[in-house]
Amino acid sequence: MKSHKRLLLGNKAWVDEKVRIDPNYFKSQIQGQQPEFLWIGCSDSRVPAEDITGTEPGELFVHRNIANMVIHTDFNLLSVLTYAVNVLQVKHIIVCGHYGCGGVASALSNNSFGLINKWLRHIKDIYRFYQQELDEIADVEARNKRMVELNVIEQIHNLAETTIVQKSWHKHQRPVLHGWVYELDSGMIKPLTQMSPGSKIEDIYMYEFDKPEPG
Ligand code: CO
Repeated sequence: MKSHKRLLLGNKAWVDEKVRIDPNYFKSQIQGQQPEFLWIGCSDSRVPAEDITGTEPGELFVHRNIANMVIHTDFNLLSVLTYAVNVLQVKHIIVCGHYGCGGVASALSNNSFGLINKWLRHIKDIYRFYQQELDEIADVEARNKRMVELNVIEQIHNLAETTIVQKSWHKHQRPVLHGWVYELDSGMIKPLTQMSPGSKIEDIYMYEFDKPEPG
């Protein structure tokens, strides 16, 4: 059987199972979505957001990219974030990295990956920021693991530094930001860091919303 046909058969089996348990399952899906969570994860095929969190369709609003990055000029991420915060009014945003992340390992190497260099460049910048701590870790695997953690922590700060999150914190006291890391070899998620509305962020990234904005 052609491999893509296996996916269509899998879809049919999934539909049959859902309808068997609840004949109205798909009718309820078209009512709309009210997810409480925005999930920002890695595109890695081994880290499927719903499976590893035991969640169902409708529970997670999901954005995935290489190495679960929050880049402040990425219109894809910013559009997802805006919709999640302002329209869906999610209560939580989770950035979930994972050990064994190819994107993070590649960024720590000197290999060239063409266009992807530009994406991974942001991870190299984080390395430079924590170079002393990272260079003291002799074991390559241990260093990569720490880099995965630091990357998640930095992405949480990147979220808090957006005007989207800052405005929502200011007006609505949501969402809470969570930085997690997933272990491929155990399947377990480890919480690393959390930022609640009103958390201190570096002064230089704070915006004043009371003054009129140009344009
Ligand atoms: Co990855």
